[in-house]
Amino acid sequence: MLKKSIEDALNKQLNAELYSSYLYLSMAAHCETIPMKGFAKWLRIQADEERAHGMKFFDYIIEAGGTVKLTKIDAPKTEWKSVGEVFDQVYEHEKKVTAMIHGLMDLAIKEKDYATINFLGWFVKEQVEEEANASEIQAQIKMMGDIVGHLFWLDHELGKRE
Ligand code: FEO
Repeated sequence: MLKKSIEDALNKQLNAELYSSYLYLSMAAHCETIPMKGFAKWLRIQADEERAHGMKFFDYIIEAGGTVKLTKIDAPKTEWKSVGEVFDQVYEHEKKVTAMIHGLMDLAIKEKDYATINFLGWFVKEQVEEEANASEIQAQIKMMGDIVGHLFWLDHELGKRE
C-alpha cells in the first residue's frame, strides 16, 4: 500500500509527464507549420515517449495499491521564435523534470519506500538520456548559427527518428 504522501507525489509526476507530452506535441505542431517536418517528427515521437512515461506512473500507482487521480493539464504555449528557441526550452524543461524525479526519489528515501525507490531508478537513468539528447540537438542548432541550409540538413537528420 502506498503512503498518501508518495501517492500524491506520484500522481503529480503523472500529470507532469502528460504535460511534457502536451508541450512537445505543441512544439511539433509549431514545427509542422514553419515548416520543419524533421524537427516536428522528432518532437511528435518525444511526445509519445512522454505519454509512455506517464503510463509507467499510472500502472505503478495501481500495482502498488494506490489510486490514480488525473488532474487538469496546463495548456502549453503555441508559438516560438525559432527551432533554436524550441530546443532551448526542451533542454530547460528536461532539466526541470530531472529535478522533479530527484525530489520524488528524496521523498521515497525519506519514507523508506523501497519499491518506489526501485521504480524511480529507471527514471533517474532515463533523465540522463533525455537531457543528453536535448542538449546535443540544442548544441547542433547553435553551431549551425541558424544558417537555413544547415538547419534543413539537421531537420532531415532528426526526421529519421523512428
Ligand atoms: Fe519524461 Fe522527458 O521526461
